[in-house]
Amino acid sequence: MGTKNYQTVKVEKDNGITWVTLNRPEKRNAMNPQLHYDMLDALTELETDKETQVVVLTGAGEAWCAGQDLREYFRATDNNPVERRRASWASQEWRWRRLFTFPKPTIAMVNGYCFGGAFTPLIACDFAIAAEDAIFGLSEINWGIFPGGLVSRVLADALSYRDALYYIMTGDPFDGKKAAELKLVNFAVPKAKLKDETVKLAKKLMEKNPQTLRAAKEVYKFCRTMDYAQAEDYMSAKGIALRATDPEKGREEGTKQFLDEKSFRPGLGAYQRKKS
Ligand code: ACO
Repeated sequence: MGTKNYQTVKVEKDNGITWVTLNRPEKRNAMNPQLHYDMLDALTELETDKETQVVVLTGAGEAWCAGQDLREYFRATDNNPVERRRASWASQEWRWRRLFTFPKPTIAMVNGYCFGGAFTPLIACDFAIAAEDAIFGLSEINWGIFPGGLVSRVLADALSYRDALYYIMTGDPFDGKKAAELKLVNFAVPKAKLKDETVKLAKKLMEKNPQTLRAAKEVYKFCRTMDYAQAEDYMSAKGIALRATDPEKGREEGTKQFLDEKSFRPGLGAYQRKKS
């Protein structure tokens, strides 16, 4: 599949990794309605794109994403309910639903500023790696709103009660190292190493069975809000579905390689994939 051109987003494919870059550096990649429409289209295409095995979401220039665009997303649509509704739907759709349930692994590579509404896609991604000097903040309190959209809800998944309320109510900025300490990101590295570390993680993921990766993240993410009986039933059905639909037949192959061929130790590494 070719790569489309968008006004506000850059999509580049390189050996299985697809780099999706929020591309309004002069506005610190603040999310205007056009960016929401572009991101929704890009993610929809990439979901089924055969060349895309892992998606990395990053930002052009000094920012990852400075949150919603105060001028174009908020003020310009205050008296235009039709456009507000359209933009708001697209905004929620890509930042949460599409990313949270994206069928392939997703990594947020946080290269710089990450504010307000940017926390939603940050937390929706499966992994996040930050530059140590990236600046994060729930700045909403500083200009008379609370973290809305879904931000306050997703924060409840990603931060402790105390930390979430502290940053929601003070608006204090914090750096990438602190974000790693809070477990808001997996780890923080010096900016010079950010891309290499991201590629290293993406390559590790590309060695795994993609169908199993998809099922594993869906099971974890969806079961978090189920009760025990629902989770047990869901996982049982999901396991049967995975065995029936996995083109690599990973379970059978892994079992054979461990028990019969004695060619690997599942505790120490992946079975040898037979590509479909
Ligand atoms: N909305 C609209 N425009 C923005 C936003 C934003 N969220 N963030 C930056 N910009 C624009 C600025 O207005 C400016 O535009 P201009 O050149 O036309 O004047 C340009 O981006 C550069 O911004 P500066 O402030 O000059 O850049 P600087 O590097 O000094 O600071 C920073 C960057 C810290 C990100 C600052 O712009 C800022 O505080 N932005 C707002 C961040 C924020 O509070 N986001 C949450 C929004 S609310 C929500 O998401 C629900």
